Amino acid sequence: MPATVVVGTQWGDEGKGKFTDLVAKEMEMVVRYQGGHNAGHTLVVDGETFALQLVPSGILYDHITPVIGNGVVVDPRVLLKEMDTLEAKGVDCSSLKVSGNAHLIMPYHQELDALHERHLGDGKLGTTKRGIGPAYADKAMRVGLRVQDLQDPKIFRKKLDAVLGYTNQVLTKVFNRLPVDADEIAAEYLDVCAPRVIPHIADAISLVHNALETGQGVLLEGAQATFLDLDHGTYPFVTSSNPVAGGACTGAGVGPRDIDRIIGIAKAYVTRVGSGPFPTELTDETGDYLVDVGHEYGTNTGRRRRPGWFDAVMMRQAVRVNSLSEVALTKLDVLDGLDSLQVCVAYDINGERHHQLPYHQSELHQATPIYEELPGWGTDISKITNPEALPKNAADYIAFLENQIGVPIRLVGVGPGREQFLDRAA
Ligand code: GDP
Ligand code: IMO
Ligand code: MG
Repeated sequence: MPATVVVGTQWGDEGKGKFTDLVAKEMEMVVRYQGGHNAGHTLVVDGETFALQLVPSGILYDHITPVIGNGVVVDPRVLLKEMDTLEAKGVDCSSLKVSGNAHLIMPYHQELDALHERHLGDGKLGTTKRGIGPAYADKAMRVGLRVQDLQDPKIFRKKLDAVLGYTNQVLTKVFNRLPVDADEIAAEYLDVCAPRVIPHIADAISLVHNALETGQGVLLEGAQATFLDLDHGTYPFVTSSNPVAGGACTGAGVGPRDIDRIIGIAKAYVTRVGSGPFPTELTDETGDYLVDVGHEYGTNTGRRRRPGWFDAVMMRQAVRVNSLSEVALTKLDVLDGLDSLQVCVAYDINGERHHQLPYHQSELHQATPIYEELPGWGTDISKITNPEALPKNAADYIAFLENQIGVPIRLVGVGPGREQFLDRAA
């Protein structure tokens, strides 16, 4: 049975965690395919909140094998802490598998992330300072350490000494910092972390393919989102991996023909954390309303998210680059209190109307959204369980977006809880 992908279509925090958990109910395996603990995926089950960073969002089901794929960058200290937090809440993490080919985030990656940001000054990216960019940079430079190196202290040490020969020069001579100590890192990673991580290390490719070949449901969970993608996002204000659906192939070790359902997660409005262009950004009281009512603060970093109106131009691009088969629209309930809603249907760039995203970033910076106004519905929809019961204006809003983006909107979120969703296809 082919796999399903869950992918963010905007700038992250669309509700991927909640919808992965929802769709995972019917699956046997959930694989995180890229990113690291820059992600914050929130699940609310029976009133209890789980904020996941590295652990796949299928972890709450006993019948699911959660897998951290080769495309993820793993800080083993964070992984163990997250597992401890989950175990303390009664969640069994013993079945968690970690690809031996995933790369390790090392302490110097985190330090370099912060130093690069400081160096950029006003041009900073606003990263999560988790070491994501430097870890992927080392991977691309072919000097990264991998999860499987935790199983072999000699190889771990040899690779660490080799990379520090260079990295310590950068730290001391470029950034005027103290060198990092290989013995200290080895003690923490090999003596403290490795004994607890090793039982989870697996050949994730075989696991995934055995599951696919035996007809099991496999869900490939993306972190971040299309416009934070290293290739397709608003470069350089992006993350250092490929969150798009294509990243699920490289990051989980499957081919395009192994996938037949691609669910794009889209908020009913848009948010962005960190720097970068955002054509429909709202800096007025409507924006404050979206942040307050939508609780738009980072799951793990606590940063205020920048709010804006739904942008159909960006969504059309997300449909293309991910080949979305359907969209899950989240947080529709957040719009309950607004009298009227704006949807960006095109951009005005130097007097010309653009239906599709301009390829040149300078044009995106000059884009003025062309809006269509729709009426609000003015009632609480958070307790509705049947799409037929939606107020007409809410149903019309969904139908309008669906028409704009050209892909069916099947699932609709009306609250953070696991049960707060509507299935328009049911
Ligand atoms: P992710 O990174 O894409 O998994 O999203 P986050 O978990 O960072 O942010 C989404 C936030 O919205 C979380 O606090 C969720 O609990 C919440 N959420 C998800 N879906 C809905 C919804 O339909 N309505 C409301 N009100 N909140 C939702
Ligand atoms: P989830 O999976 C929202 C943003 C950061 C910054 C840029 C680069 O919860 O949707 P990085 O630390 O990755 O080098 O930062 O990407 N960013 C996110 N924004 N949600 C996320 O994850 C994000 N992960 C990274 O704010 O602008
Ligand atoms: Mg998030």
